[in-house]
Amino acid sequence: MEIIIRPDSQQASMIAAGIVARTVREKPHAVLGLATGNTPLQLYRNLVRMHRDEGLDFAGMTSFNLDEYVGIPPAHPSSFHSYMWAHLFSHINLPKERINIPDGLTTDVPAACRKYEQAIRSAGGIDVQVLGIGSNGHIGFNEPSSSLSSRTRIKTLTEESRLDVAAAFGGEEGVPTHVLTMGLGTIMDARKCLLLAFGKKKARAVARTVEGPVTAMVPGSVLQLHPRTILVLDKDAASELEMADYYAWVHEHKPDWQKY
Ligand code: F6R
Repeated sequence: MEIIIRPDSQQASMIAAGIVARTVREKPHAVLGLATGNTPLQLYRNLVRMHRDEGLDFAGMTSFNLDEYVGIPPAHPSSFHSYMWAHLFSHINLPKERINIPDGLTTDVPAACRKYEQAIRSAGGIDVQVLGIGSNGHIGFNEPSSSLSSRTRIKTLTEESRLDVAAAFGGEEGVPTHVLTMGLGTIMDARKCLLLAFGKKKARAVARTVEGPVTAMVPGSVLQLHPRTILVLDKDAASELEMADYYAWVHEHKPDWQKY
């Protein structure tokens, strides 16, 4: 794991945007794995700016989102579809027909999940997978106890995860109980994983992900087995890492050719 710690989320998001932009520039037909939530908002803002001001070109890209709520229509203001169009897709030139988000309204969940996995394979696999992390250690919506080799499937949200998004649904009652999410095995197949975490609320999950045992009880910890995972953290999210000084030293002394 490569761990990059920046003083604040703004600087961390600049680094993250640089990592995604590099893939976009180096591989014109790259496949991007995307996340929703508060964490990647500044990353997406940076990508939109790079598209507008520097001509960062998404015309050849394909994207796959991690997850979507079950039973929520794409046009619902709190769906992950709406989020992605509001914050990224409406502002860049990624072709609509190559945008993939799980179908939360499907009437045949197992078939839709199999199809999603097949679509990722047919596109050539994900080049860079953007991830946030839940305060309980979930990545995607692979909640604690998720199989470390799981594929895209339906999952039941924990109460903690539902409370985290309650405001967007007018209170906990309104929050969907289920999601379709890429599995941990699906995420592990990505060529590169880029996990962002900001704020004290994420510090424990980050420390358990990086320095704890690999366990289904902290789904993010499976990334310890991934050969190319980069964590970009702000100081608060890094505050419970025992070896934070070491990670910072390593990063500062990396030769340029080895960065990211
Ligand atoms: C979102 C997702 C989740 C979030 C996580 C953190 O697509 O898969 O794992 O990344 O719940 O959410 P925020 O960023 O809102 O703290």
